[in-house]
Amino acid sequence: MSNIVYIATSLDGYIADKDGGVDWLHSIPNPEGNDFGFAEFLAGIDALVMGRNTYEAILAFDLDLERQWPYPKPVYVVSTSAVGVPSALEGKVFPLQPGSPGALVSQLAEQGHQRLYIDGGKTIQGFMEEGLVDEMIITQIPIVLGGGMPLFGELAEPQAFELVSSEVLLGAMVKNHYRRRR
Ligand SMILES: NC(=O)c1ccc[n+]([C@@H]2O[C@H](COP(=O)([O-])OP(=O)(O)OC[C@H]3O[C@@H](n4cnc5c(N)ncnc54)[C@H](OP(=O)(O)O)[C@@H]3O)[C@@H](O)[C@H]2O)c1
Repeated sequence: MSNIVYIATSLDGYIADKDGGVDWLHSIPNPEGNDFGFAEFLAGIDALVMGRNTYEAILAFDLDLERQWPYPKPVYVVSTSAVGVPSALEGKVFPLQPGSPGALVSQLAEQGHQRLYIDGGKTIQGFMEEGLVDEMIITQIPIVLGGGMPLFGELAEPQAFELVSSEVLLGAMVKNHYRRRR
């Protein structure tokens, strides 16, 4: 079983700016629309665990959900309240019974999902607190936001990771893949 974070941050470690915005993620011109390996990454996971706020932020992009929903794997949305699923996303998005990250992983393992993509700041922090993040692929965008939603929160103990690979994207961003040192 592996729980993997794939996310982009500012140089000061934020995943969204002070207004919750993420336009700065696209601040480096990418004329060829390179996905930097995201589709390949998605092909290698079984399912996503996504926090309600991230799910709602994606819905707010006003995508054509039939054609532009970005995830080819089941997306399990975590929330302590009811999660609305538009009809276009039925069979693609599933509310998950709320629980600790460990309980969520067990629920999904019972359904055969072993490799999970964990998405959303608070959701990732919950998994980190339980020591349940095995790999992190973090792309650093060269901007200092000065505030916003941090990727990481406080932990009871430090957690060590080893660098698996590092790649410079478009001569501007750095994508680092880390694996937990156990
Ligand atoms: N930079 C990037 O690559 C990137 C990637 C993803 C998201 N984002 C941005 O990050 C922001 C959202 O992040 P966020 O920190 O607000 O958090 P989030 O993880 O997306 O959502 C947090 C919510 O998820 C639910 N939740 C999390 N863990 C749970 C658990 N174990 N059991 C039950 N419910 C659980 C709770 O919902 P309830 O309150 O309903 O209980 C919690 O309030 C958005 O602005 C989004 O655009 C950026």
